[in-house]
Amino acid sequence: MNILLIGSGGREHALAWSLVKSPVLNELYVAPGNAGIEQIAKCITLDITDHRTVIDFCRLHDISFVVIGPEAPLVDGLSDSLTHAGLRVFGPSSAASQLEGSKGFTKDMCSRANVPTAAYGRFSDAESAKAYVREQGAPIVVKADGLAAGKGVIMAMSEQEALDAVDSCFDGAFGAAGAEVVIEEFMEGEEASFFVLSDGVNALPLATAQDHKRAFDGDTGPNTGGMGAYSPAPVMTKTMTDRVMEEIIRPTIADMKAQGCPFKGVLYAGLMITKDGPKLIEYNVRFGDPECQVLTMRLKTDLLLILLGCAEGTLHLVDAEWHDDPAVTVVMAAEGYPGSYEKLTEIKGLEDAAADPDVEIFHAGTVVVDGKLLSNGGRVLNITARAETVSEARQKAYAAVEKIDWPKGFYRKDIGWRAVQREDVS
Ligand code: AMP
Ligand code: GLY
Repeated sequence: MNILLIGSGGREHALAWSLVKSPVLNELYVAPGNAGIEQIAKCITLDITDHRTVIDFCRLHDISFVVIGPEAPLVDGLSDSLTHAGLRVFGPSSAASQLEGSKGFTKDMCSRANVPTAAYGRFSDAESAKAYVREQGAPIVVKADGLAAGKGVIMAMSEQEALDAVDSCFDGAFGAAGAEVVIEEFMEGEEASFFVLSDGVNALPLATAQDHKRAFDGDTGPNTGGMGAYSPAPVMTKTMTDRVMEEIIRPTIADMKAQGCPFKGVLYAGLMITKDGPKLIEYNVRFGDPECQVLTMRLKTDLLLILLGCAEGTLHLVDAEWHDDPAVTVVMAAEGYPGSYEKLTEIKGLEDAAADPDVEIFHAGTVVVDGKLLSNGGRVLNITARAETVSEARQKAYAAVEKIDWPKGFYRKDIGWRAVQREDVS
């Protein structure tokens, strides 16, 4: 079978790395891919906003399955266009992608389906939003409704900060994403990410992970797309996972179906484990990046068969098996990220770093020019390792990081600290 994978991040390198292991695969095309993906698949240039071009490419290259990595093409309806053209796709419809594309949509779904989440209000003008802030008091969370690349969330510790956040949202700080604002209760607890596949009816729980969103050690600095992750998340015990399936995931899938937009794809639930139980922070409609890297590192089952089951409505016939051993990934990013940073700086030493068989290096923003490996984005490499304990996996990942010669890069030195602390006390 020939497959087209859309995307260029570490997530897509990890997906490609898993897909090429499948005996069912013939040729894997990736649009646009990166320097790491290029070593295992055919990278192509394709304007994915032009759906007709994508369909034509699929017909010309006998593609029978398209896997969409990032959220933007999903919200943009690429999955719908390909499905209408008779192609098999992994990735939800535009309507179902509203679970990530609109925070207000998700909050309303939670109300209908009785999914535990932070109390909230939705506002399309500053005055009523501010009145709500004054009524609720601080701390409180102000969110731009739409996709804002992870930047549209302001955790206001004082009422004034919240009022200012409302103003900046309506003044256009987040562009169109801020035309509506969601204001919600500040939840306290431990965060975890939970990944579940759904074919619209059935649900297959995959695995859990914990991300590190802040740029610097000790969870300080600005929010990023994620500076490292590990799987599984110790807070997600079997009992907690079962609870989340019953209280959060199954009601969501049933409600989406009842609303006429069944969810088919990977549901990534951002959870807060509070003293009152699990609560939904948000949904994403694609694999997390870098969470996908640690998930694929632990997956034993053929990823292609699982994704096909999801697209074909036969998930109840599929099982996913996992290595019990935890995996850790450390992100190497360009100095300055998530602000402005230099591109096309040289990186050396990858071969030596990847010599340990328990280590995989997934590329994100990389490119090869004149035989040299250069950085080509904010998040650039994901150094991933699997071992018997988180401490050991982390040691292996950092040993590999240290072999990489990239003076213009930086990384967090404390990825996995929470899990390591738990291992140390147990
Ligand atoms: P979101 O984009 O909705 O995932 O928010 C980004 C991050 O903000 C989350 O991962 C949480 O760390 C934090 N956050 C969002 N909403 C809340 C909330 N209601 N209470 C506490 N923390 C939150
Ligand atoms: N790592 C967070 C995300 O993929 O949204």
